[in-house]
Amino acid sequence: MKFAKIICATLLLIFAAALSGCGSSSTGEVRTVAICFPNTTSSWQRNGDSLQKLLEDEGFKIDMQFSATVAEQQQQVKDAIAKNPNCIVIGAIDSEAFVDVLQDASKKNIPVIAFDRILLNTDAVSYYASFDNGAIGDGMGEYIEAALNLKSGAGPYNMELFAGAPTDKNAHIFFANTMKILEPYFRNGQLVCRSGQNTFEQVAVADWNSENARPRIKDLLNRFYTSETLNVVLSPNDDIAGVILDEMEKAGKSYPVISGLDGDPAAFERIRQGKQTFTISKDPDVLTAKCVRMIKAVVEGTQPDINDVTNYNNGVKIVPAYLCTPMIIDKTNVNSLAAK
Ligand code: BGC
Repeated sequence: MKFAKIICATLLLIFAAALSGCGSSSTGEVRTVAICFPNTTSSWQRNGDSLQKLLEDEGFKIDMQFSATVAEQQQQVKDAIAKNPNCIVIGAIDSEAFVDVLQDASKKNIPVIAFDRILLNTDAVSYYASFDNGAIGDGMGEYIEAALNLKSGAGPYNMELFAGAPTDKNAHIFFANTMKILEPYFRNGQLVCRSGQNTFEQVAVADWNSENARPRIKDLLNRFYTSETLNVVLSPNDDIAGVILDEMEKAGKSYPVISGLDGDPAAFERIRQGKQTFTISKDPDVLTAKCVRMIKAVVEGTQPDINDVTNYNNGVKIVPAYLCTPMIIDKTNVNSLAAK
């Protein structure tokens, strides 16, 4: 037994030594990965930190940029291309904003990987690393359906809806999949949207900026819920759930059944306190490990893990993807897991 452990340890060392050279070419030149992420929510910082650490451990040099606006991010991607990195990883603020910018990457044969959000209408993108966005939308709908006992005919419950940024394809997928599950209950009256605001365009939060959700939840509470109870809220992520709950608290309302996404530390805390019902956690280390496999594939010609070759037609090509499995966190398991 002891012997087996020693062999394993030796093999691990050999394996680690083999891996440590991955960031260098055969001539010893250090390979550079440019990472262009939004800084619009805390989850991006966590993903950036995780990706940077994994790549540095493998010997890559990192050129990391965060940006708040589409124009700034376009400029950062342009600047990154000008420096001829071996690969560019983009978490796009606007999925459609890189069609022109990435033409130069194609011309220079610099491979591009889409991180978390797909890049649309460009053939410059080699792979897509994300979570299963369809499953996230389904998960939100199914959790709410079960929590309210809708299948058994319970209700009516008052529900208001929020969605993510119109510029992000993910936001559309989350909302469409959730609504596919909940729409029958709106039609038969088990769920009631008192504001009548139920289309994606009406409920989207610009830039995923949670402060952009504040005026709307205030307005909804003032106009439709002074005497009525708001029982359920669809929130597209944890940041936005935090603002909605904050305004409901200020208005003296009881906590609704409310969704979230990302598994932010603040959401874990709200779940423990009984304020937020659940979140769907997207473990950064799980996603970044898959992304690193893709980076190595494009710079070294190795095989990345791919588990989806049908769902992400970006308008020009089907982008081969690895979609990680998200995890639902609520009061039943929040204490057995650490937020990341
Ligand atoms: C991601 C979410 C994130 C949101 C805001 C979406 O594209 O999929 O996990 O909460 O962007 O950054």
